[in-house]
Amino acid sequence: MQDHLPQAVRVERRPVDETESRGANGPDWDRYADEYQATHGEFLGDAGFVWGPEGQTEDDLGILGDVTDRDVLEVGSGAGQCSRWVRTHGGRAIGLDLSHRQLQHSRRIDELTGVRVPSVRATATHLPFADDTFDVVFCSFGALQFVHDIADAVAETARVLRPGGRYAFSITHPTRWMFPDDPGEGGLVASQSYWDRTPYVEVDDATGRVSYVEHHRTLGDWVRLLAGHGFRLVDLVEPEWPAHHDRVWGGWSRTRGLLTPGTAIFVADLG
Ligand SMILES: C[S@@+](CC[C@H](N)C(=O)[O-])C[C@H]1O[C@@H](n2cnc3c(N)ncnc32)[C@H](O)[C@@H]1O
Repeated sequence: MQDHLPQAVRVERRPVDETESRGANGPDWDRYADEYQATHGEFLGDAGFVWGPEGQTEDDLGILGDVTDRDVLEVGSGAGQCSRWVRTHGGRAIGLDLSHRQLQHSRRIDELTGVRVPSVRATATHLPFADDTFDVVFCSFGALQFVHDIADAVAETARVLRPGGRYAFSITHPTRWMFPDDPGEGGLVASQSYWDRTPYVEVDDATGRVSYVEHHRTLGDWVRLLAGHGFRLVDLVEPEWPAHHDRVWGGWSRTRGLLTPGTAIFVADLG
């Protein structure tokens, strides 16, 4: 849906569980990683921290607070650009991602920059860390909308965070679910229910297998998920489209961005 391989697929809406979601999305990100990094790597910056296609950075928004001497986990870290930013700002960031190929890109950029991000291949619903390990857990468009068992992902985050720790994540703004994923005028006409949580599924024409899945939660779903796992929501940032920004990223564009929010950044503290 958002921006990935134009392989021959048919699009469906149907229930998909965690096993099928992970089994589709891991290989999909492996296939797409080279193109993703070639297309977006410069915009992201090797040690940059971009929160979404609108281009607002952690330097602009200060969502994580001072990361100096903080233990930080990035879930869905891709090539580790954000974690590398944290490391250059004195934090001990670790990356976690489902895709082996994305993590190979992370290693490549480690060597290129000399700023190394220790990373692990794992999934957001089973974090391979002890309780109370991190001061900050964050995702920049990483993992969460690809996960079916979202309550497990939030519970795992609460488990590995220390009391008072910060959880911040950016996702496609839930209201975008109502619109076709079209960066042009067609993407401004609502065509499906905001409340329909049936996953977006791509099925590979050649094999008949599910090849990509995205899950949707409403704003209220997210608030309940966070509150239900002991988090206190401290902000919901909805970045505005910057005046001189004209970059198209999948369904994100100036045409749509001037009228509707494309990204939601949830900021919550534990306890
Ligand atoms: C849109 S990319 C974002 C990566 C990085 N934050 C960036 O800004 O480039 C989403 C990442 O989430 C990862 N991902 C998808 N499902 C995941 C899961 N269940 N657990 C961990 N990572 C996952 C993908 O492999 C991919 O690297």
